[in-house]
Amino acid sequence: MDNIYAKVLEAHRFIAEQTCKFVPEVALILGTGLGDIAERIEPAYVIPYKSIPHFSLSTVEGHEGRLILGIFAGKRVAAMQGRLHFYEGYSLEQVSFPVRVLKSLGSTFLVVISAAGGLDTGFKPGEVMLVTDHINLIGSSPLRGVTDPRLGNRFPDMSQVYDRQAAKVVLNVASESSLALNTGVYAAVPGPNLETPSETRMLRILGADAVGMSSVPEVITAVQVGFRILFLVAITNVNNPEDMAPLSITDVINHARLAEPALTYILEKAIPTLIDGLG
Ligand code: HPA
Repeated sequence: MDNIYAKVLEAHRFIAEQTCKFVPEVALILGTGLGDIAERIEPAYVIPYKSIPHFSLSTVEGHEGRLILGIFAGKRVAAMQGRLHFYEGYSLEQVSFPVRVLKSLGSTFLVVISAAGGLDTGFKPGEVMLVTDHINLIGSSPLRGVTDPRLGNRFPDMSQVYDRQAAKVVLNVASESSLALNTGVYAAVPGPNLETPSETRMLRILGADAVGMSSVPEVITAVQVGFRILFLVAITNVNNPEDMAPLSITDVINHARLAEPALTYILEKAIPTLIDGLG
């Protein structure tokens, strides 16, 4: 993508015009099988990606492809219902372009929600994992080639990617409601194929607790633009390298849906606390 800054401004201007300059307090990115969380948003404006300048289209089953601006748990949110993936053929710059536009709309927090395979064999499908750190195995960075200082620091620090305060709030919500919440490290792989038993073993040895094909490019870009980041994953399957079970995308979507009530509950409780804590 050439001249990303100008493209962000153009997309920003289009959204601001469509939404009477609605300023979200939180931005959300919703992934595979998790778009129904968007049903809990009282929509003020719904904009299909295809009408937003320079947005690419989500081609994946379970991804709606629209930006919803509205009220969630009493707070103004901008939610991407459907994300873009590297495995769809998009560059990492294209995948994470919406993050730059979301930041330009004005929110402090970015909440990323995604489906993932569990690598910790203590996890169960339908559970939620709070991501405490990640390993980028996609093989590139969304910041590669990005040299415009108006887009942020070229060499962003990654020593503490995930917001500690947000994590604390989410852990409190889970413990107060006796909700099973796992914590761990997310490894991002390019996909779209799933992992072999040997790859699964390798990921575990590397220190990953869950594996998925998304989110990390958006998160890296979110660090560059200065978002405070909360990343929660729905564990859709658990991969045991000694006893690998076949997995279909239908299983992934169905199990992501299983996690949706817990994710919705956590977000409904945590988001107001986070925003009120900013005041
Ligand atoms: N591997 C990679 N990505 C995934 C998986 C998995 O097992 N489950 C959901 N997304």
